[in-house]
Amino acid sequence: MGVFKSLWAVTVLILSIYLSGCEAQECNANDKKALLKFKAGFISQAGWFWDTWDAGTSCCQWLGVNCTTSGRVQGLTINNPWSRHGPSSIAERDPTYEGAVGATLGDLSELRALELSEIMFNGPMPNTFGKMKKLEELKLFYNNFSGSLSPSIGGATSLKSLTVDGSGYTVTFPNISPASIPTTFCQLKNLRTLVLTSFRLNGKIPECLCKLGQLKDLDLNGNELKGGIPDCISSNLRKLESLILTSNRLVGEIPSSIGHLRSLISLNLNDNKFCGSIPKEIGNLVHLQNLGLANNSLSGPIPASLGNLVELNSLDLKFNSLTRIPPEVGKLARISTFVISNNQLQGKLPPEIGNCGNQGYGVYMEISNNKLLGSIPDVFGRGNINIFFAHHNQFTGGFPLSLAMVGDVDVSYNRLSDPKPVGTLPADPKIYYLRLSHNLFSGSPPSWLENLVTIAKPSNLEMFENKFTGPVPAYFFSGSNAFGNLNASHNWFTGPLPSITTATVSSIDLSHNRISGSVTSNFFGALLNTTYFMDLSFNRLTGPLPENSGDFQMIYYMDLSDNKLSGEVPDTIEKMPTLSYLDLSDNNFTGRVPSKKPSHPLLMSA
Ligand SMILES: *[C@@H]1O[C@H](CO)[C@@H](O)[C@H](O)[C@H]1NC(C)=O
Ligand SMILES: *[C@@H]1O[C@H](CO)[C@@H](O)[C@H](O)[C@H]1NC(C)=O
Ligand SMILES: *[C@@H]1O[C@H](CO)[C@@H](O)[C@H](O)[C@H]1NC(C)=O
Ligand SMILES: *[C@@H]1O[C@H](CO)[C@@H](O)[C@H](O)[C@H]1NC(C)=O
Ligand SMILES: *[C@@H]1O[C@H](CO)[C@@H](O)[C@H](O)[C@H]1NC(C)=O
Ligand SMILES: *[C@@H]1O[C@H](CO)[C@@H](O)[C@H](O)[C@H]1NC(C)=O
Repeated sequence: MGVFKSLWAVTVLILSIYLSGCEAQECNANDKKALLKFKAGFISQAGWFWDTWDAGTSCCQWLGVNCTTSGRVQGLTINNPWSRHGPSSIAERDPTYEGAVGATLGDLSELRALELSEIMFNGPMPNTFGKMKKLEELKLFYNNFSGSLSPSIGGATSLKSLTVDGSGYTVTFPNISPASIPTTFCQLKNLRTLVLTSFRLNGKIPECLCKLGQLKDLDLNGNELKGGIPDCISSNLRKLESLILTSNRLVGEIPSSIGHLRSLISLNLNDNKFCGSIPKEIGNLVHLQNLGLANNSLSGPIPASLGNLVELNSLDLKFNSLTRIPPEVGKLARISTFVISNNQLQGKLPPEIGNCGNQGYGVYMEISNNKLLGSIPDVFGRGNINIFFAHHNQFTGGFPLSLAMVGDVDVSYNRLSDPKPVGTLPADPKIYYLRLSHNLFSGSPPSWLENLVTIAKPSNLEMFENKFTGPVPAYFFSGSNAFGNLNASHNWFTGPLPSITTATVSSIDLSHNRISGSVTSNFFGALLNTTYFMDLSFNRLTGPLPENSGDFQMIYYMDLSDNKLSGEVPDTIEKMPTLSYLDLSDNNFTGRVPSKKPSHPLLMSA
């Protein structure tokens, strides 16, 4: 995206130069001098960009330069799109250049918009921004500045938008020194947008920022800011639409006064150390579309008032110590990302959860790694939830069949055990990934599973670490997707392998069961064209291998170890060109037993 944006910017520039070329606008001599001095700070002054900066031509025709009709430079955009594709940066500081590169840009007294991105300044930020009294927009992205933010920016009092990102697009710039946000920035009373990201800013968020009453966007992501959120933000910055304080070291409680910021559309406090409970006043922010409080130390219940956020599209509360889900979350009609995993959530899952996103375009729901118990309510029939990750909880009971309306279902690592169906199978199931592993299911695979698998044909079926018994049913092998996976390892399956004629699964793990009988040429025959992974190890298979054992078309992994297979190993097996792992050990074969075990696991999937 960044590349395309940049290419677009350059294309627009080239076009505008071309179109304005006929006017042969003469540029102001002082402006030209300031620009040439800037260019002189770099090692390479040739190439497609700098070649246009020719002292013999009007600077208004140079790439990146935008003039007024009277030939004063009003815009300068050097947005270096090629630096990501190698070291041939158009602008790398000449180490012999004296002083701060770019300092003379301060002489461009009519400049209104300045963007300098991906330029290897390799030194401090120029300290002459304060001379640009007409500057309204300043963007400094991904430049290798050393030291800290120049307080002189605070002198550019016409600024409406200030964006500084100290990170590198492809490289990191470790030369930035930790320093606090310059208080001179608090003079920028016209600011609508203040973005100071990844610049190792530390200390507290200065209270004087609350003087910036016009601010709509405040983004301080990825710094080292400490302390709390100043209360005055809520009382003074009432126009804020986006408040992003992610990835800092902020502490304390989230002030309840935050509920005054009624214009907020995005509030993101992820990756900090906020504690206490989520203030119920957040429910007053009725225009909120994105709320991120993930990875903090928040405790107590999720406030019921969150249900008021009818516009909310994304809610991320993962990695906290929250204790209760209120039924009101079912009122989040537009939600598309609902993530409350890795908390201390207790009690039952409110059935209202099935209403989430019922006016949206599908919900990604993650409630995994909590302490939720009771049965999973049978409330997914609306089909508005696309992904349901509920693994690592303490759910009991059976599998609610309305989950077949969810595409990707993970209810593994729970205590589900009931073989009886819960609810009825929907007529048009959507499930393509079903994870039932590590539950307490026992006995033969239940009939609801057969209905679900044969009707919905999920391509991935994971049910390892249960106590299923009886023979492995043939329907396990017939998902709809040619690259399907079956993992039923670590169960108590017995009996012979099923008789199948066709199969669509590509990866089969039936290891660590009690499967007996022989491997038939019928069984292998059905798998020859599709299977690339097969693990039948740790079973009780007997007899010789069928003669088509070496006819697999795409297999790379075959493990038949720890069985009671006997006879001679067909020598075609080790000649299969795609095979890179073969383990036939711990059987009762006669003659030479081939094996292939690459030393590095990565070689296996090559
Ligand atoms: C030049 O600057 C003017 C005034 O800021 C602006 O409207 C125009 O879009 C700019 N042109 C280019 C090509 O950047
Ligand atoms: C960044 O600047 C420093 C000098 O301040 C220099 O040593 C380093 O090589 C530069 N990094 C890159 C990626 O050019
Ligand atoms: C959580 O936030 C801390 C900083 O407070 C960060 O170092 C860590 O990587 C984050 N963890 C996750 C899982 O996002
Ligand atoms: C199947 O599940 C087991 C866990 O019991 C795991 O160790 C194994 O790697 C899985 N097999 C495949 C092919 O992913
Ligand atoms: C596998 O492919 C071969 C030809 O490529 C075909 O004759 C055979 O019927 C296929 N077997 C199955 C089980 O699909
Ligand atoms: C191994 O095979 C031999 C015959 O080749 C048979 O006598 C012996 O009982 C077998 N051992 C086991 C453990 O099945």
